[in-house]
Amino acid sequence: MTALDLSSPVAVVGTGTMGQGIAQVALVAGHPVRLYDAAPGRAQAAADAIGARLDRLVAKDRLTGADRDAARDRLLPAESLADLADCALVVEAVLERLDVKQELFRELEGIVDEDCLLATNTSSLSVTAIGGALRNPGRFVGLHFFNPAPLLPLVEVVSGFASDVTSATRAYETARAWGKTPVACADTPGFIVNRIARPFYAEAFAVYEAQGADPATIDAVLRECGGFKMGAFELTDLIGQDVNESVTHSVWQSFFQDVRFTPSLAQRRLVESGRLGRKSGRGWYDYADEAGAAERDEPHTAEQAQQPAHVVAEGDLGPASELLALIREAGIPVREEDEDHGTRLVLPSGGQLALADGQTSVEFRDVVYFDLALDYRRATRIALSASQDTSPQTLAEAIGLFQALGKDVSVIGDVPGMIVARTVARIVDLAHDAVAKGVATEEDIDTAMRLGVNYPLGPFEWSRRLGRNWAYALLDDLHLRDPSGRYAPSLALYRHAYASDKREGSTS
Ligand SMILES: NC(=O)c1ccc[n+]([C@@H]2O[C@H](COP(=O)([O-])OP(=O)(O)OC[C@H]3O[C@@H](n4cnc5c(N)ncnc54)[C@H](O)[C@@H]3O)[C@@H](O)[C@H]2O)c1
Repeated sequence: MTALDLSSPVAVVGTGTMGQGIAQVALVAGHPVRLYDAAPGRAQAAADAIGARLDRLVAKDRLTGADRDAARDRLLPAESLADLADCALVVEAVLERLDVKQELFRELEGIVDEDCLLATNTSSLSVTAIGGALRNPGRFVGLHFFNPAPLLPLVEVVSGFASDVTSATRAYETARAWGKTPVACADTPGFIVNRIARPFYAEAFAVYEAQGADPATIDAVLRECGGFKMGAFELTDLIGQDVNESVTHSVWQSFFQDVRFTPSLAQRRLVESGRLGRKSGRGWYDYADEAGAAERDEPHTAEQAQQPAHVVAEGDLGPASELLALIREAGIPVREEDEDHGTRLVLPSGGQLALADGQTSVEFRDVVYFDLALDYRRATRIALSASQDTSPQTLAEAIGLFQALGKDVSVIGDVPGMIVARTVARIVDLAHDAVAKGVATEEDIDTAMRLGVNYPLGPFEWSRRLGRNWAYALLDDLHLRDPSGRYAPSLALYRHAYASDKREGSTS
């Protein structure tokens, strides 16, 4: 099954933000494109807006004048749905309402040919439910573009329960022929990206709700330690708190209120108060000045502390092993000792530094936890967490140690799993769970999370780096401390961890 022939007309119905972007993509790829919108004059306005964008591409030397002129000739606003009769593909990008979309496709089915492919760009409705309105739902699929469609390469090609394989394959190949990177996925709530990305927001909000740290500190740790392009608070301010919350709410409801997807009360209050983010001038941050720049609180950054004279490394630090080389490079002597029971750094005070593992500092006599970094060498900030039982001297030595490695240090509350570690563990878990439930392949999930939400690594790449057991062990510990079910590791992650234990000959 191949992509649609470039001579075949493509229709886009609903010419708002997404419809215009999708139409531009199909047009630049070479198709004749028809635009239809229910609001009078809007299809023509969309054609004008697309024309203006093509002009800008010409000005930037990304399109020739001749190609722009040819594209403009291929773009036609339609007066009525009947004008779409000869189209080989219709992509719908209308209002996000099931009844509106079903009604539209019912009408379209009476207009287009039997072999016309029908697609919806819905982000949160069930593709199966929309297609359920059709006499022939086999020709119906989801084609989920990301905003702005001309710039973002990812397209989730969603097969509904009744979609034919040939329809999904044709949609997939067509998206690829348009220069996009398609990934195939089943019709489950949030598809790939909006499902697996939920903990990125949820865990940041949970740390905030637990008074573990303020938004500026959590964002700085996610960026400068976790390697994410933006923190969860600034990103949701950009997306719109109402939009982000409604996606979370819809995924949670669609999973029959699965506790793993529970929305955040703090975000609810923010939305209720009208602080929707950049678009309303205020969200988690204030954008009151004229340029719209965030009035930022500074992240918590510890005062300069004395570096420790030496450290003892006990056991294998796992994902944080790189630290030993960094500490030596900073001129601090490290003595390594084999240790069966723990993996930690012992400071001169006798206190210990351990990688965040889902336990709380209060459970141990004198411990400071440090957060997971994407790359300890390149991280510019590290979060530390201590409890009221941690001695001030141990905390000062821990701060001094990371400062000696050139890092800013943020001290947060005694939050088990800290910030980056619990976020990454939950993303890894949801990714394993999604593969086990047939949502998508590991490769497609990694591609989707890198391209759809800009993660520095796909969940499976991350999982391989961290070691097979790491995410499971952390979530198991967190689940013990918060038995709501929110952190319960999936059976898929358990299998993954257990299989590795057997393979590696462990007796645990
Ligand atoms: N905005 C995003 O970031 C984004 C990303 C991915 C998917 N989506 C999905 O794309 C779809 C469109 O979103 P948008 O942000 O472009 O919305 P939008 O409000 O910008 O545009 C919707 C357009 O559809 C038109 N319309 C409404 N009902 C119609 C009907 N029955 N027939 C024809 N036209 C009709 C409206 O007049 C409007 O021009 C939604 O399903 C949304 O969930 C949005």
